[in-house]
Amino acid sequence: MLRCLLLLCASLAAGFRAAGRVDLQKAGVGPCDARSRPLVASATSSRSKLRAKLVGIGSCAPDTKVTNGQLEEVVETSDEWISQRTGIRSRHLLAPGEFSSELASKSAERALEMAGVKAEDVELVIFATSSPDDMFGDAPHVARMIGAENAVAFDLTAACSGFLFGVTTASQFLDSGAYKTALVIGGDALSRWVDWSDRNTCVLFGDGAGAVVLQAAESDEESGVLGFEMHSNGAGRQELNLQYSGSPRELASITSVTNGKYSPIAMNGKEVYKFATTCVPRVLKEALDNAGVTADEVDWLVLHQANIRIMETVAKKLGVPMEKVVTNLDEYGNTSAGSIPLALDAAVRSGQVKKGDLLAVAGFGAGLSWGACVVRWG
Ligand code: UT7
Repeated sequence: MLRCLLLLCASLAAGFRAAGRVDLQKAGVGPCDARSRPLVASATSSRSKLRAKLVGIGSCAPDTKVTNGQLEEVVETSDEWISQRTGIRSRHLLAPGEFSSELASKSAERALEMAGVKAEDVELVIFATSSPDDMFGDAPHVARMIGAENAVAFDLTAACSGFLFGVTTASQFLDSGAYKTALVIGGDALSRWVDWSDRNTCVLFGDGAGAVVLQAAESDEESGVLGFEMHSNGAGRQELNLQYSGSPRELASITSVTNGKYSPIAMNGKEVYKFATTCVPRVLKEALDNAGVTADEVDWLVLHQANIRIMETVAKKLGVPMEKVVTNLDEYGNTSAGSIPLALDAAVRSGQVKKGDLLAVAGFGAGLSWGACVVRWG
């Protein structure tokens, strides 16, 4: 009898699991629908007001600048096509002998200087990157370079959403009381990984990094991170990836393994464009709801710098005028995890973004992954 009951329970559970498995593509479900809304609504309160403040920012890009016109010598393209379709006019590229961990450490030092925080007081370093110098992780090396000798440091891989995911991750540690001071660095060197004969991708990306210093807010201080939301959907992996593609290799007569390299970045631009213009406005609204503010109250929209047309569409869908959109895409192109802090740093240093301003920040990219957070700057 007991055995029958157990068998019945097991087959019911298997049935439920099977029922829960949905082929998103066959079902024609868009990438943003991978997460059910009730899950977001029920947990809203835990995605608002984290005891974390963003108190300093810095960035760094390589000196070598390549204009659209110069790329005409590399692939069949034109300044007109690139600037009209994307808003990009140039990008900065690492030269041989230059390293992405150097961009990260310079950004971090500039951010610490602005915050007036000593490197030895940093307890957590997160380096969001998908193109590290060392596949095992650059963060401990970067922490050592800047003298953050008391910090635990690790990499976070979430492509162009990496910086946003890093800020929300670090904020949890500050909110919980585990740490008081954290550094989040976002940076990529995608010039290493594009196919320089593929005009669909090589004109878009540049190298660069940016960093923010976060501190735990005291109990009598207002929180800096007012709300956030994050999503991912592996069903969209084929639209944008940098996949391992090693070759089989025999190990004597024992066995065979795969060994070798990664393929260059592959992207279905149109699908990523659709995903970005659909999912990013939605996740921004979710983060604004979690923060208890409206789009009208936002001083600055700081989006991943992929395409000016994506930024225009997102801003329009939110009802935010373009004058409130922070961008430096024309100069740097898409620097993946570096793009948000690189753009925000320039806006802070130029006096555009001031202490107390309300920022709505969103990242999106491979995974697919996307997320947003609402931040009171300073
Ligand atoms: O951070 C990761 C997130 N990535 C993104 O957000 C990228 C999102 N996607 C985009 O920004 C746009 O889809 C692109 C900028 C990548 C492409 O713009 P598009 O308006 O979607 O162009 P398309 O891919 O439909 O290409 C239109 C034409 C094609 O020629 P035919 O087939 O119409 O003759 C392309 O071959 O433009 C051609 N083309 C180019 N022409 C000159 C594609 N790349 C280039 C190029 N120069 N670099």
